[in-house]
Amino acid sequence: MRRSRILGVGSYLPERVVTNHDLEQWMDTTDEWIQQRSGIRERHFAAADQATSDLGLIAARRALEAADLAPESIDFIVFATSTSDYLVPGSGCFLQHKLGIGPVGALDVRAQCSGFLYALSVADLYVRAGEYDRVLVVGAEVQSAGLDLSDAGRDTAVLFADGAGAVVLGVSDDPERGLLGHRLHADGRFADALAIPAPGTVNRPFIGPEHLEQRRHRLQMDGRLVFKNAVETMPAAVREVADHCGVLVSDLALVIPHQANTRIIDALAGALHLPTERVVNNIAYTGNTTAATIPIALDQVVRDGRLKTGDLLALVAFGSGFTWAASLIRW
Ligand code: ACO
Repeated sequence: MRRSRILGVGSYLPERVVTNHDLEQWMDTTDEWIQQRSGIRERHFAAADQATSDLGLIAARRALEAADLAPESIDFIVFATSTSDYLVPGSGCFLQHKLGIGPVGALDVRAQCSGFLYALSVADLYVRAGEYDRVLVVGAEVQSAGLDLSDAGRDTAVLFADGAGAVVLGVSDDPERGLLGHRLHADGRFADALAIPAPGTVNRPFIGPEHLEQRRHRLQMDGRLVFKNAVETMPAAVREVADHCGVLVSDLALVIPHQANTRIIDALAGALHLPTERVVNNIAYTGNTTAATIPIALDQVVRDGRLKTGDLLALVAFGSGFTWAASLIRW
């Protein structure tokens, strides 16, 4: 059976660092509140002239370099983001042009914080089916462009951040190594619990002054409902993908969860009975970069040498939709 494998990983965090103390200058919040509720100390914000595909481009080039491949070797692009350069078209098209490659297909995936895992599963199926040999999978966000950095936006603005991560997926030359399986879920009953309703076709026109006044263009979040569902579904998804692939959770060398909140990550480690050092947590210095958190963390553990050949790695995410997903990899 043809199996896919991650040939290279790359990531990019914009140069500008915004600390909790910076946020204290702009809104009624405190470093203590933010750290205690989320674990975040600082995050990166993109420059005003950097769109999501620009961040994705740097991460993609780094992933290609790690894989020792030229951009021209890419057969297809899957781009996960909830903060696309334009509403239409998707960021994948911008990235394809910026990479300077031929007219390969570019598919945007909209599954928010679960976006990278949804994108990875799509790319994996293309490679396994023999349709493409090398697929670039990107998760990138410029959340700062939409944050309300005043008191009115403090409930969400302190959590979100910018960044990008990318992997090059190719054909595995070792049948034991590579992507083993994925489990994807959504429950649209909770679509309004974490949402940006405008612009959107529920509105006429799809955005107007009244929507701006009602703040429908800002992220609406029922934080407690998100928390409750995240701590239930994420461990269940890891167990489900482990069962599906016939491995034990206790055999996982590392779990990379979506970086939403340190308390959610700690609850996940507890529910899986895994020591916290086996559950990756970099949120203190990156914040929540939505579709980018998992590939950014993956790049960091690969470059730090924390992931060894043959290790079992689980990736798990939860986010707006609600959506949740888990993937299993033999590194
Ligand atoms: N600074 C200071 N005070 C704040 C801030 C802030 N930035 N934001 C809200 N507050 C205040 C509230 O106004 C409220 O004040 P009140 O008691 O006077 O009314 C108080 O803090 C408590 O607010 P709650 O919303 O009840 O705070 P809670 O303890 O529930 O924590 C949080 C909020 C951190 C969002 C929590 O619900 C949580 O962790 N939820 C998970 C959601 C999450 O992680 N989202 C990330 C994105 S989604 C994803 O990636 C899956």
